[in-house]
Amino acid sequence: MSVAVVTGANRGIGLALTQQLTARGMHVVAACRRGSEALAKTGAEVVTCDVTDDASVAGLAEQLGGRRIGLLVNNAGILARDRLGSIDFQSVRSQLEVNALGPLRVTEALGDNLDEGSVVGIVTSRMGSIADNTSGGAYGYRMSKAAVNAAGASLARDLAPRGVAVVLLHPGWVKTDMTRGSGNWSADEAAAGLIARLDETTLANTGRFVHADGTPLPW
Ligand SMILES: NC(=O)c1ccc[n+]([C@@H]2O[C@H](COP(=O)([O-])OP(=O)(O)OC[C@H]3O[C@@H](n4cnc5c(N)ncnc54)[C@H](OP(=O)(O)O)[C@@H]3O)[C@@H](O)[C@H]2O)c1
Repeated sequence: MSVAVVTGANRGIGLALTQQLTARGMHVVAACRRGSEALAKTGAEVVTCDVTDDASVAGLAEQLGGRRIGLLVNNAGILARDRLGSIDFQSVRSQLEVNALGPLRVTEALGDNLDEGSVVGIVTSRMGSIADNTSGGAYGYRMSKAAVNAAGASLARDLAPRGVAVVLLHPGWVKTDMTRGSGNWSADEAAAGLIARLDETTLANTGRFVHADGTPLPW
């Protein structure tokens, strides 16, 4: 059975991804800091993993062992609403740790489990787009998502010779804890869109930055 790994799988978009991927018959390794009742019901293999922690991510790699990963979705993320004049730099650092370094740390640690035909998705945000920034603010979030976009572009190039494709995904404005329940899409609808984009990711389009609805996004 093909193995999928999803980070931040206990709630929100990560939980919806895990539910939909298990429902289609994939074996999902659900990486999260703590489990949840809803996650337990999916039947996924739950592994404790904090994406900011080297030892914790090494533990995830150890749990995977030699198993091939067909799909790796780096989904874990945090948002703080930093405003100019009251920026908390520790919070900016935390967002960089989770949103930018987390996906890079996890993808590097699981690199040996990826091979020809594997797909790596990074759930970033259009707020990481410099071209699309018309409203300012959200310093740590925007910086961290722009940084992970840069990492994703390099991963696409570095992993292509091994047959591994990469996609940078914006899930839409989604009703989760992160948005305090506001948004246009449910987590289920966002996950369905993300999975459709992951399904169409190949070496021919590797490295693109795309909305869950399929719209290409500017960097
Ligand atoms: N919702 C939106 O409108 C929206 C828009 C654009 C992009 N996104 C992106 O979509 C992804 C999922 O967001 P969401 O809306 O589902 O948010 P959410 O409901 O707040 O869920 C965030 C998930 O990330 C996990 N997480 C946070 N820090 C972590 C860490 N250090 N290690 C491992 N897991 C960690 C959380 O786990 P805990 O329960 O342990 O905290 C939780 O599972 C994020 O990358 C976010 O930036 C969301």
